[in-house]
Amino acid sequence: MSGGVIAIDGPSASGKSTTARAVAEALGFAHLDSGSLYRGVTVVALREGFRRGLTGANALAALSPETILRAAEDRGLMLQPDGTGFAAYLEGEPAEEALRSVEITAHVSAIAAIPVVREWVNSRLRAMVRAGQDVVVDGRDIGTVVFPDADLKIFLTASAETRAGRRISQRGQRIDPEYLDAETQALAARDRADSTRQVAPLRPAEDAIHLDTTTLDFEEQVQFIVDRARLIFARD
Ligand code: DC
Repeated sequence: MSGGVIAIDGPSASGKSTTARAVAEALGFAHLDSGSLYRGVTVVALREGFRRGLTGANALAALSPETILRAAEDRGLMLQPDGTGFAAYLEGEPAEEALRSVEITAHVSAIAAIPVVREWVNSRLRAMVRAGQDVVVDGRDIGTVVFPDADLKIFLTASAETRAGRRISQRGQRIDPEYLDAETQALAARDRADSTRQVAPLRPAEDAIHLDTTTLDFEEQVQFIVDRARLIFARD
């Protein structure tokens, strides 16, 4: 039996993961962060390159997608249950810290543009739902490609500047105009890369509910999604 699916898509730093986690907690669903698998594959690729004496973009360019995915399997990249959801594990250890480094963030878009990597990630996400798990999944193509039949689809947005400000605050840093501008531009560049790639570009599903969080606070945006989910899942 397949589980229920709530898809939350949107650009970088739109608050998808924290929102998805809170929605999952409120509904008793499990949270699946699809980006963590793309980040995990990026960690594996850079480590594999390093083993061969290559770094950064040179490492990614020198390795075939098949080599990268074989290394991901060999190093045990997987999602394992962790409280409210699933966390990425690598070589038997939680990989969360490695996934969020600046280096991984800089290279993950290139990895996420590789079609066979996307198929590998998608098959892992779908396996969870086939196992009967009710999930809140966040990403860029969840409502369009991974789960086009999701019970509820949300497309979260906020202005690039708002997202940049939130990201800086999350890091516990002070928001000065120069830093805010640099972060806004970095986010806009990632949005462009994710929206213009050939495979599964970032775009809202036709039947997604758009939620602009620029002027909402966190509780309001979570409650908005939980209320809609309750209407849908109460009918089943
Ligand atoms: O959400 P995030 O920042 O952790 O995502 C990391 C990268 O993975 C980002 O460049 C977009 C990409 N991604 C994707 O292409 N498709 C998804 N479903 C999730 C993430």
